[in-house]
Amino acid sequence: MELTAEDRSQLAGDQGEPVALAMRVLTRLGDVYGAERFIPITRAHVVGSSYQICGEAGIAIYERLVAQGARVRVTTTLDPGSIDFDHWRQFAMPEHVAQRQVRLKELLEAMGVVPTWNCTPYYFANVPVFNERVAWSESSAVVFVNSVIGARTNRLAAYVDLCAALTGKMPDFGLYRDEARRGTHLFLLERGLEERFGMQLYPTLGYLVGQRVGDGVPVIEGLERTPSLDAFKLLGAAMASTGSVAMYHVVGHTPEAPTREAALGGGTPRATWRIDAEEIARAVEERISTAPPGAVDLVALGCPHASLDQLATYARLIAGRRVADSTRLWISTSFMVAELAERAGYLPVLRQAGAEIIVGTCVVNAPLAGWGFRVMATDAGKFAYYAPANLGVKILFLTTEECIEAAVTGQGRRRPA
Ligand code: F3S
Repeated sequence: MELTAEDRSQLAGDQGEPVALAMRVLTRLGDVYGAERFIPITRAHVVGSSYQICGEAGIAIYERLVAQGARVRVTTTLDPGSIDFDHWRQFAMPEHVAQRQVRLKELLEAMGVVPTWNCTPYYFANVPVFNERVAWSESSAVVFVNSVIGARTNRLAAYVDLCAALTGKMPDFGLYRDEARRGTHLFLLERGLEERFGMQLYPTLGYLVGQRVGDGVPVIEGLERTPSLDAFKLLGAAMASTGSVAMYHVVGHTPEAPTREAALGGGTPRATWRIDAEEIARAVEERISTAPPGAVDLVALGCPHASLDQLATYARLIAGRRVADSTRLWISTSFMVAELAERAGYLPVLRQAGAEIIVGTCVVNAPLAGWGFRVMATDAGKFAYYAPANLGVKILFLTTEECIEAAVTGQGRRRPA
């Protein structure tokens, strides 16, 4: 890489050892990916926030950085931790994990991060604009800001995100550059899928697309209505789970895809697939679901962390009813959204019905396997993909409405189409 005088001075340690260490990591990364220079970034979002991810090695690294005076120099938010800081006992999260997560929190805060503890930083506190260069690592947030906002980031690994935050720069490669943002695979949708499947279309489509494209940039054509913010969120999160997708285009609806030609950057797709209602229905029942309709002992909603609109929907659906004794209804969200939902009256309704709100973590990030759940119902493609490994559950993939019914009756059933 070609280094400026400022880059060389940072590498030499003129701005302290943490910056020098971060520059060594980033320079090596840039060399590996063929970057020619560094570019400034304005925001970071860090996944090395959870004890499940960092472990003792991460704490040791942060202890050293803090002792050496490390400070982030751009707005830097945090992904979920491994506990709900205020309610970890309610969810039987192990005490030693809680203690170590609190230490992690102290160290991260000492470096000047904004302690958001959520996977949806684009709702509050860390909202980039079109074309802004940022350095993010949470896969569902990366795919959202690249695709829906048109900001630019690669899908970073833990600690690389922090290196960017400490230096305020990243090597110029991958999705920072126009050529990597061009669509690589084309998906042509049958008309009327939104009408038929509602919100369940988006995580299901994302799940299927991610499996096919790996780390490509899919172009989806055929959505007749602009998806809501939550629909885009569910679509991208699922795609970034089953594949390593960091960006997608929806022709006519995302900012870099006014037309198919623009989305493909004038090129030809490596492959073209048609997706119809039958394939979506089969994916819901056979590919994403691993359990048949029947008894469920956990219903998990809020992946990525629930928005205010989603909490309003859950409250409307369950108002005046009660979660079955045989079942738990757990909803993950951030403390900022929870605070607003409290004031808006949604959380009191949910709590009255017996729902439990997990704040700042989720069933994938927290140590919850001790509960011994067998079947989990969810409406989220990302939960469906990762929860089996963390919780040891089978998955019943349902619509949001069906999930609430499952929580109330203890039985997961699909409504006839
Ligand atoms: Fe967020 Fe947990 Fe889903 S971190 S994206 S709620 S798996």
